[in-house]
Amino acid sequence: MPLSTLKYTNGEVTVVWKPATCIHSRICWTELREVFDPQKRPWVNMDGGTTERIIDQVRKCPSGALSYFLNQEMEASTGSSVVSEEAKIINIQITPNGPILINTDCHIKHSNGEEETKQGVTALCRCGASSNKPYCDGTHRKIEFKG
Ligand code: FES
Repeated sequence: MPLSTLKYTNGEVTVVWKPATCIHSRICWTELREVFDPQKRPWVNMDGGTTERIIDQVRKCPSGALSYFLNQEMEASTGSSVVSEEAKIINIQITPNGPILINTDCHIKHSNGEEETKQGVTALCRCGASSNKPYCDGTHRKIEFKG
């Protein structure tokens, strides 16, 4: 049975990992091996870095497979969404032969009406072959997408 979601916490922050969404960018474990080590089980060691450093790394995950929430905020959550009152300039990057990266938290409204909030970097499929649309699942490498 495939794992859908795994959670790891240090008491302050909880890292959520969705294996099916991971595009194996290697960014997490090459930049913070003390916390993210695919050679170990469990592969996430929440004692390997500070809460701030872990959050900083999770926000770099291009697929959204890694996300986080602060335990205290979750306990105090009222269920209302936070909307910035200031307009933002959004940094969007078209990667060579790969996905479109949205380099900020964003709110996605899907064609079926479902909505979700993505934290950090979100990778949107540009090749059309992802089985996890609208998100990139790494298939662009297998099909050798050029663009
Ligand atoms: S761009 Fe990555 S799967 Fe399509």
